Amino acid sequence: MSDQAPATHVAIEAYLAEQAEQTELRFLTCGSVDDGKSTLIGRLLYDSKLIFEDQLAALEADSRRQGTQGEDIDLALLVDGLAAEREQGITIDVAYRFFATDKRRFVVADTPGHEQYTRNMATGASNAELAVILVDARKGVLTQTKRHSYIVSLFGISEVVLAVNKMDLVDFDQSVFDDIVAEYRAFAGNLGAGLNITAIPVSALKGDNVTKASNVMPWYSGPTLLGYLESVQVGALEDAHPFRMPVQWVNRPNLDFRGFSGTIAAGAVRPGDAVRVLPSGKTSRVNRLVTYDGDLDEAGPGEAVTLVLEDEIDISRGDVVTAAQAPCQVSDQFAVHLLWMHDAPLYPGRQYYLKTGARTVPCVVTELKHKINVNTLEQLPARSLELNELGVGNISLSHRIAFEPYTDNHVLGSFILIDRQSLETVGVGLIDFSLRRADNVHWQALSVNKTRRSALKHQKPCVIWFTGLSGSGKSTIANLLESRLHDEHRHTYVLDGDNVRHGLNRDIGFTEADRVENIRRVGEVAKLMVDAGLITIASFISPFASERRMVRDLLEPGEFIEVFVDTPLDVCEARDPKGLYRKARAGEIANFTGVEQDYEAPEHAEVTLHTVNCTPEEAAESLLDYLRERGFLDSAVS
Ligand code: ADX
Repeated sequence: MSDQAPATHVAIEAYLAEQAEQTELRFLTCGSVDDGKSTLIGRLLYDSKLIFEDQLAALEADSRRQGTQGEDIDLALLVDGLAAEREQGITIDVAYRFFATDKRRFVVADTPGHEQYTRNMATGASNAELAVILVDARKGVLTQTKRHSYIVSLFGISEVVLAVNKMDLVDFDQSVFDDIVAEYRAFAGNLGAGLNITAIPVSALKGDNVTKASNVMPWYSGPTLLGYLESVQVGALEDAHPFRMPVQWVNRPNLDFRGFSGTIAAGAVRPGDAVRVLPSGKTSRVNRLVTYDGDLDEAGPGEAVTLVLEDEIDISRGDVVTAAQAPCQVSDQFAVHLLWMHDAPLYPGRQYYLKTGARTVPCVVTELKHKINVNTLEQLPARSLELNELGVGNISLSHRIAFEPYTDNHVLGSFILIDRQSLETVGVGLIDFSLRRADNVHWQALSVNKTRRSALKHQKPCVIWFTGLSGSGKSTIANLLESRLHDEHRHTYVLDGDNVRHGLNRDIGFTEADRVENIRRVGEVAKLMVDAGLITIASFISPFASERRMVRDLLEPGEFIEVFVDTPLDVCEARDPKGLYRKARAGEIANFTGVEQDYEAPEHAEVTLHTVNCTPEEAAESLLDYLRERGFLDSAVS
């Protein structure tokens, strides 16, 4: 979730580096444009020692050209600039702004405030030490104020400034301020970790209490916003934490040099230190700490280095180098918090990629325990997570990874989830703890294996997976195909949607979440049947590409034969063999495929059957030919 500063900020970074003796505060601003966020940030930048000097020069030139003068015009232009940038910047997660005063330098993570941009907030929150939560004095504490506060606390930020803005529009009235603060404190009191809240009444437009103390709110005697930001003490990055560095890439420019590059996530490292590489557990010692500016004697959190080790051990991208005596944990099952960021909901059982540091592994949310109403902090039962919803659940990875709980380490304890088809980021997650149950469950090696079982049956096992609308003819063709195979002394089994729902899946309905779980279970059963050496015929609507692909991935290459029974909806509906379309149209069946729910037609099915042009017998026969041609019915099996 780290955001890289654009190249143009390199010069600014250099300037900031000159002021290295000053401490840095990284803070996040939350609120919408309507709350006056741009004005507030604009004023902070403007009234402070502005780092965007070229930007300021341009603004001054502009205002001179327009024949206007003075602070307000510059400020207005700057604010416009920020707002425009943000509008274009929907694809940028977070805009980082840099400024400094004599006392401190600042990095502001400015995130768009609209509800759908919660993900950007999460990105900003993951590396901020303090959050400024802005409310409009006229509107008070809103849903989004609560959502932002919840995310802020979830991401481990404990310092919050509640900036009650637009005080000028409520006549600088103390009771308005006091009521908002009281309401906010009551809400925040329920947030798990406990926030340290400082409330400041401001008018970003007029400048009251932003950088200069207001003289129209004598009832307020606290610090200005900038004054507070300059003096607040936030927890420093712990150097005492044991060393951890995820390997971003392996450098091997020539045979004499092999280095492991990455950014240190926690702790310090020196040449001579003993290290352990996870998940393999191999150990070595640090020989050199190489950077572009020469070798270092020591490096700490946030620094990018290349480690050269004493021994030639096998390390790949995504591994984590840790202090040998204090390695982090390794697991493939976790209890997590998840924040969903995509229009297509999260369904337990569906596969995603999980990316943490430089490691990407397939994963599945095995259980969704509940979702959290961020307004009331109530826990609600959930079968799926919609856009912007927050949930708690368990996740299972296909490989073990090195990790730390998010509360111990923000880098090794956070991850994003990626859609396997579109490769878009669809969620972010925080690791609460590892579930150890997998540690004591081992795969039992059996002497009789798939090859021996298949050889005895003189066949090559596979799954013939029929997908298509209800009434498309799947079960009819599946039944005919099995009969034909049976006549030829083949060992088969049919898994049929309706039948499986009488037993194994009797607890499952037809919501999208249910269909995902239906196919996940059937996929696992089909895999066992293939292992048993059977030619397995599955007949399920299986409307989602994602789960069909999941079953394909469960099997070995070539074992999954996807058969798209391509019958147009109107034909299925006219046939209506079970009278279900009629009931669905009458509103008597919810979630009916093709009526209320989508069917995602396969794009790369091995076989497509157009049932309008052929009889079920012909369709079954053509599948038999397919199996014969591909060698599935050869008796000799290697
Ligand atoms: S799937 O979508 O989860 O793959 P499956 O193939 O198991 O569905 O079950 C579909 C069968 O359930 C249909 O053939 C039909 O007889 C019955 N059915 C009952 N309600 C629905 C519904 N809402 N949508 C689709 N099929 C339904």
